[in-house]
Amino acid sequence: MSGRIPQHFIDDLVSRADIVELIGSRVPLKKAGREYRACCPFHDEKTPSFWVSPAKQFYHCFGCGAHGTALGFLMNYDRLPFPEAVEELAQRLGVEVPREAQGPGAPPRGASDDLYALLGEVTAFYRNELVRSEKARAYVAKRGLDAGSLERFAIGYAPASWNEVLKHYGHSEDARRRLSEAGLIIERERPADEPRRPGEGYYDRFRDRLMFPIRDARGRVLAFGGRILDQGEPKYLNSPETSLFHKGRELYGLYEVRQSRATIKRLLIVEGYMDVVRLHQAGIPYAVATLGTATTPEHLKRAFRVASEVIFCFDGDRAGRAAAWRALNNALPEAQAGREMRFLFLPEGEDPDSLVGREGAAAFESRYAQALPLSEYLVQHLLEDVEVTHADGKARFVSQARPLLERLPDGPYRELLLDRLAAAIGVSAERFLKIVGPVASAPADGAAPERRPLQRTARSAGRGSMVRQAVQNLLHFPSTATRIPAEQRAALAFIDAPGVDVLKALLDDLCERPATNAGQVLERWRDREIGERLSRLASAEMITPDAKAAGNELATAVQKLLELNAGARLDALLDKAREAGLSDEEKRELTTLMAARPRSG
Ligand code: GTP
Ligand code: MN
Repeated sequence: MSGRIPQHFIDDLVSRADIVELIGSRVPLKKAGREYRACCPFHDEKTPSFWVSPAKQFYHCFGCGAHGTALGFLMNYDRLPFPEAVEELAQRLGVEVPREAQGPGAPPRGASDDLYALLGEVTAFYRNELVRSEKARAYVAKRGLDAGSLERFAIGYAPASWNEVLKHYGHSEDARRRLSEAGLIIERERPADEPRRPGEGYYDRFRDRLMFPIRDARGRVLAFGGRILDQGEPKYLNSPETSLFHKGRELYGLYEVRQSRATIKRLLIVEGYMDVVRLHQAGIPYAVATLGTATTPEHLKRAFRVASEVIFCFDGDRAGRAAAWRALNNALPEAQAGREMRFLFLPEGEDPDSLVGREGAAAFESRYAQALPLSEYLVQHLLEDVEVTHADGKARFVSQARPLLERLPDGPYRELLLDRLAAAIGVSAERFLKIVGPVASAPADGAAPERRPLQRTARSAGRGSMVRQAVQNLLHFPSTATRIPAEQRAALAFIDAPGVDVLKALLDDLCERPATNAGQVLERWRDREIGERLSRLASAEMITPDAKAAGNELATAVQKLLELNAGARLDALLDKAREAGLSDEEKRELTTLMAARPRSG
């Protein structure tokens, strides 16, 4: 297997890339001021709201919220996995992609490569077992899975044995440890005083089950879901959480959706593995499933990277309705301009598997016409509980709506919902707003701006927005990082205010490794939580015009932060030093804070 691409190479590549030329070779761009614009290639639109900024090396769509760097564009537009996107960009610039050697004592990254390889081998093993087992093949036939589906989803069978995987892949203690890390075998419980004899302490996790591999965006197997063939508990068994697998993040079938060459406008989120496979087989190649959990905001972030519309599909029974309401609650923070979410309820007792098998893809798809838009479903659900014919009921309705409204980011969704809620209790939107009273906004950096932010007024200088502004300055003018002296950077570590962790991480990184544009900075944080927050900030229009002004603003912001926060902390530490004395840790903190104390008059 080839080694990892060195980060410094990616860094260098992005600093040399020309995002305008890259995107321009795929989408016709028109110059507009310092930027370029086009009709967005990621959603249907008639008037252009897709912008490409050569200064930031970043693209952003104000319609659907799509955004990213040159590499991100290749991943989303050409649907390339990350390493291939790097290859593609390198090829355009005529350079060879170097790979890190994978010697013994490889870094942690090498360890996960090992696990991927192991999971891949075991997938092949299970598939072969399916071919060999008459019983498993009979079950598959009974469930109506055809050969193409088995192949496409790499479905296999874990034989009815306590140690088949162990026997094949667990030859050494080291190998058994890896099997256990991959979630494939389980350590037997034994009395504490009983020594473990090599090879005897484990057994296979999956036995006599139909095996559905769960794959990541690049097609690597992360985990399995296993369905029992006959009777037995539990019906479905998932791999445990491992270093590779986090249940609340993965969508079963997403890789297979991407593999299907069809143009994907929407995703259908269903509940079961079997549902996904049978929907694809029937000609609905855009179905995915959560893994026995409620839909999380993380799921939705992933989903909206692939399509701008999501239809949640639930059983019409009580359990299905409860699951749908949970999904709605988790979906609210992701309700942004350009994203459509609807809820489809199937007749009671039906699941997509049974329905699509009986009526076919076209009839199934015609059900979407009945799917409720998010706002509609929300209002209907609230009305189920409350009589709004009298004042008391209206008041209850409003108090139940408030927390939901607060989870929605500012934007058209919220506006729309306000209108709907107001109409539901027969008042105007203005009146409704008065009744609800002040509603806290979801964090603004969680939302795509609903209009071209040029028209947006600068935010008032609350502490949160000051930090945000400082981070934004840094993103757009990375060279200004050196304006902040090392002592001040160190002191930021002791400030417990929203966003300061990001500001400090960014400052530290940029002082160590200077960068030239926002795209380059963003690529360094790819796949990390901070990265997502940063790229939202990069989407917003800069208010500060040039590097000099940005640097001044940044320096002032850091000074203010330290004054506001470190001041009180310093006082507290000094008091304590006088009265009770300080621990070693507190002494270090005091020294750091003193060193960074702004020299005010
Ligand atoms: P079939 O019965 O094979 O048609 O599967 P299904 O997908 O219709 O199953 P069901 O609707 O009962 O469950 C939907 C999803 O919930 C499954 O695909 C699993 O992800 C999850 N699930 C169901 N039963 C269990 C269980 O016993 N344990 C766990 N962990 N998850 C389950
Ligand atoms: Mn089913």
